Amino acid sequence: MAGISAARIMSRCEALAACSEQPGGLTRVYLSPAQRAASEIVLGWMREAGMKARLDAVGNCIGRYEGVRPGLPALLLGSHLDTVRDAGKYDGMLGVVAAIECVQALNEAGRRLAFAVEVVGFADEEGVRFNATLIGSRAVAGTLRPEVLDAADGAGVTLRQALKDFGLDPARAGEAARRREEILAYVELHIEQGPVLEAEGLPAGVVTAINGATRLAVTVEGVAGHAGTVPMNLRRDALAAAAECALAVERRCANGPDLVGTVGQFEALPGAVNVIPGKVRFTIDVRAAADAVRAGAVGDLRKQMQEISARRGLALQVKTTHENGVAACAPWVMEQLDAAVAAEGIPVRRLPSGAGHDGMAMVDLCDIGMLFVRCAKGVSHNPAEAITAADAETGARVFLRFIENFEAARQ
Ligand code: HGY
Ligand code: MN
Ligand code: MN
Repeated sequence: MAGISAARIMSRCEALAACSEQPGGLTRVYLSPAQRAASEIVLGWMREAGMKARLDAVGNCIGRYEGVRPGLPALLLGSHLDTVRDAGKYDGMLGVVAAIECVQALNEAGRRLAFAVEVVGFADEEGVRFNATLIGSRAVAGTLRPEVLDAADGAGVTLRQALKDFGLDPARAGEAARRREEILAYVELHIEQGPVLEAEGLPAGVVTAINGATRLAVTVEGVAGHAGTVPMNLRRDALAAAAECALAVERRCANGPDLVGTVGQFEALPGAVNVIPGKVRFTIDVRAAADAVRAGAVGDLRKQMQEISARRGLALQVKTTHENGVAACAPWVMEQLDAAVAAEGIPVRRLPSGAGHDGMAMVDLCDIGMLFVRCAKGVSHNPAEAITAADAETGARVFLRFIENFEAARQ
């Protein structure tokens, strides 16, 4: 198939990886100068590929390639442009770059389809900067809660202020929302971030559903004190309690099925070698393939943390910062992805996604689908994240075939 260039996909992922706020590594959070640099590059590539490109009201990059007539409903493709801290180069970026590559191939071949194609680079999926996640895709889906504008980053800057600093008007954030009738489906290409495809020798697979997730922000408050003078039985050590809570997460979430739990952030205050910690903040991320399993685990953990805090005479505060049920991919989209995979001579493999994706928010607006591309050793959220150029090309070819043959669901 003419037009798909593996070399261009790989070099574009490298170019985006250079837009970073971390010396010697990749970190690019929402509404940062690094994100502005990445957005400008992406908007340029979109234009080069024949799209009209713009930043929307919350900073998502959006490119539109008209169909046979202007103004037709769009097949929406894309992924996210923000990263975790010390990230790999492909989580998110590959999906944006590959979608642009497909549009470029259509444009170079002079092809217009019976629908428009839009590519979106979501500005916040990872939720690293603010105590909220999927801000970009929720804004597009029209489900961004107004109180999220008051969420503050680690330096106390609110989302409202950060939007202003980026040159956006927080009062107009709602304008990023799309109307249902404008969008035919949202389909994302993403690295698998797990080891299944590699183990089975497959370059690509079709996602069935995105597992649900709950994220909690927990604060345990005790009494700070002198590390030398307060006897052990008179202490109200917030860190020892929080450590018990973290172990409870590990224990409870080992009791599946298809359940995982992670304490990923842990901060002891005041944080000195000779002070008993008076306050600890930590996060919990619980995911499962079934909503009831996740809800059961989260309920148990809340109870266990209450017990631990009460027994130790500490105050506990638990805030839900993210709650997303299982997002199922639409059968009709999966079938068309299956067909594109098979047409490239690849055995069709369907698999669920343990990682979260923008589809979790987009499913409130339209039907969703996802194509996974094999990555090395299942490593992700890690600078060692790797894919081969051959797999990037295969993934993009499958995706282009899917786009070219796409038929909207009959209502
Ligand atoms: O956390 C996640 O699953 C995703 O990578 N944002
Ligand atoms: Mn990620
Ligand atoms: Mn991702």
